[in-house]
Amino acid sequence: MNVQEPRLHVRGESHFIDDQPLPENLLYGAVFVSPTAHGRLNGLNLEKAEKIPGIETIITAPSIPGENQIGSIFPDEPLLADQILHYQGQAIALVIAQSPEIASAGVRAILAEIEELEPVFDPRQAAAKDLLICPPRTFAAGDVEKSWQDCSLIVEGRVDTGGQEHLYLETQGSLALPTDNGGLKIISATQNPTLVQRLTAKVTGLSMHRIEVEVHRLGGAFGGKEEQATAWAVMAGLAAATLKKPVKLVLRRGEDMRYTGKRHPYSSDYRLGLNEQGRMLAYEVTFYQNAGATADLSPAILERTLFHAAGSYFIPNLKATGISCRTNLPPNTAFRGFGAPQAMFVMEAAIFKAAIAMGKDPSEIQKLNLLKSGDYFHFGMEVEHCQAESCWQETEKRFNSDKSKQDIRAFNREHRLVKKGMAFMPVCFGISFTTIFLNQANALVHVYTDGSVSISTGAVEMGQGVNIKILQVAAEIFSISPERIKIESTNTTRAANTSPTAASTGADLNGKATELACRIILERLHRTAAAEQGHNDPGHITIEQEQVLDTGKRTGLDWEKLITIAYLKRVSLSAQAHYATPDIHFDQKKEKGRPFAYLVYGTAIIEVSLDCLRGIYQVDSVKVVHDFGRSLNPLIDLGQAEGAIVQGIGWLTLEELIYSDQGRLLTGNLTNYKVPDIYYTPREMTIHFLKNLNNPLGIFNSKAVGEPPFMYGIAVYWALIEAMRAFRPDMEIPYDAPLTPEKVLLTLYKEEQE
Ligand code: MOS
Repeated sequence: MNVQEPRLHVRGESHFIDDQPLPENLLYGAVFVSPTAHGRLNGLNLEKAEKIPGIETIITAPSIPGENQIGSIFPDEPLLADQILHYQGQAIALVIAQSPEIASAGVRAILAEIEELEPVFDPRQAAAKDLLICPPRTFAAGDVEKSWQDCSLIVEGRVDTGGQEHLYLETQGSLALPTDNGGLKIISATQNPTLVQRLTAKVTGLSMHRIEVEVHRLGGAFGGKEEQATAWAVMAGLAAATLKKPVKLVLRRGEDMRYTGKRHPYSSDYRLGLNEQGRMLAYEVTFYQNAGATADLSPAILERTLFHAAGSYFIPNLKATGISCRTNLPPNTAFRGFGAPQAMFVMEAAIFKAAIAMGKDPSEIQKLNLLKSGDYFHFGMEVEHCQAESCWQETEKRFNSDKSKQDIRAFNREHRLVKKGMAFMPVCFGISFTTIFLNQANALVHVYTDGSVSISTGAVEMGQGVNIKILQVAAEIFSISPERIKIESTNTTRAANTSPTAASTGADLNGKATELACRIILERLHRTAAAEQGHNDPGHITIEQEQVLDTGKRTGLDWEKLITIAYLKRVSLSAQAHYATPDIHFDQKKEKGRPFAYLVYGTAIIEVSLDCLRGIYQVDSVKVVHDFGRSLNPLIDLGQAEGAIVQGIGWLTLEELIYSDQGRLLTGNLTNYKVPDIYYTPREMTIHFLKNLNNPLGIFNSKAVGEPPFMYGIAVYWALIEAMRAFRPDMEIPYDAPLTPEKVLLTLYKEEQE
């Protein structure tokens, strides 16, 4: 395996934004932001700031040459606030100075005259005031209203899930360089270089071809740089274009945490009806999505919430409504799972409540209702090649879950103050951007005369290993040593009109485009070799481990010689190719279609131990059977699964965002915002790769891996609840994540209410 990326990382040699060699005359940006969550900006006094030596310029909304607009789904987001301030941390003015310290001093010297307006932070309150990002949407199947009468049990309730800070190691940042044709080169830490290019063009008034966006790699992203890397890159670009000097803008950790959006908190109402056996007959759910101040990606995220409303289960009568609510918080955004985790948590909460009412183990209801091939999703897509049951059964069998259950019961009988709990979590996650047109990618492949290969695609390396996967694709198609291949930076002049590296699709889409481009070159090489062999039958030529074979026999030609011959014969050694996922569609009027190329399945069991005296807990084990397809790179995929699971566990347990009643983030640093560290990670994590069939729509029959395992983390919540109930069976169950140690303790010792 080629280990280029990891080797650079461990040696500290990889270049992130902050490692770029600095150009002469470099200037630094800092941003003056709204100190209020909702207000009217009546005036801005820049005089004092402008007098500070070393301040080059201060850019505000009126000095923007093009459009002051960076909204991508809806144009509702100014780059710099003009009149109304919508959240604490919203950018108002951009200070450019000779050093970062002077830029910060400039920011501190700006005075804003603000008239306070009443803020809204709660999505339900926003909905009541009709403060919506877009009209509500409803996905429905069967007849929910009619079905309630057939149910022997109906449970209902409210469920809340909190937000989540992305906490990528590399904060948001970019470096913009003016070019000699009046254009810009922007080096940005973005998942979405084309978006940076397009919006910089809009804001500066330059056309897109004058703007080159370059991405080397990101120090993590998790969705937080799909949309929200843009503002800082556009600001740096705008300043560089204005001053004709290079400008660097990098957020400090605290700024990044306070100014940027997070995973969407949701508040939801559900009603679930079941028959006597525990089969789910009807489910009605309304999701109130806390979108924050602007649309950002909220409508797309809400759409995925609606797609995944029923999780891994078949429910014949279903009605799911999503309401995207405008509040005075930073715009919430993409985060691993993209709205699906919120939906699945509500489904699991409903099942848990039903299980208690029926005196059943929740896993009985989960198992009974799993999707099967031939079922239909509520959005009209047929369930094909379903692995929900096979993953579940394999999990039960492989990890001997019945015995674990007995062991836990025995342990809980013997221990008064420490209790254990376990829970299952099945996952079914659709692969494709649900915004259909995004499911395309292109690749540019050059073979140089020494036989080395250069590959450019739209994929952004952010630690997920997409570069290694694309490299493997090319090495396999050409049948050459991986050492010959280099994956280039992601650059808009080499890969144009790209989709963000997101929705778990990076390796599939860009890998498929790479495969197509490599095959074009390979075909030419086969023809060249056939001619060299004195016949014109390229079908007889193959390349195996750098040797050129004719009808299976060695020709004496190898890769390097063949490349030289092709070059001398004036055969093109470069190719560009485009891939678009076939057969996906969705009709937003009917809310029906086939939005996914395929589904990823799996089942997890999580076991926890809870110290009932202190409220602290540990995750004893995570055991998973996951459908990776034919994994292209098991080590990378294992890392993705493990990281996602720990991140999912963090979301539901430790990670709690707290805002003041004025909308100020109080958990804006790492002493008060807790994420899982190495001591908190599960004592045991076993991830079994399900033996699987081919998956032709994944690259080389693999399956996308970035997001699906995140949702296994949901099991931790119910495992903890089980442990808590073992200590205090009559406790009132919180359906309100995260379940922090503090909340565990308060719940366990809550006084009886009248
Ligand atoms: Mo991802 S959450 O689709 O960047």
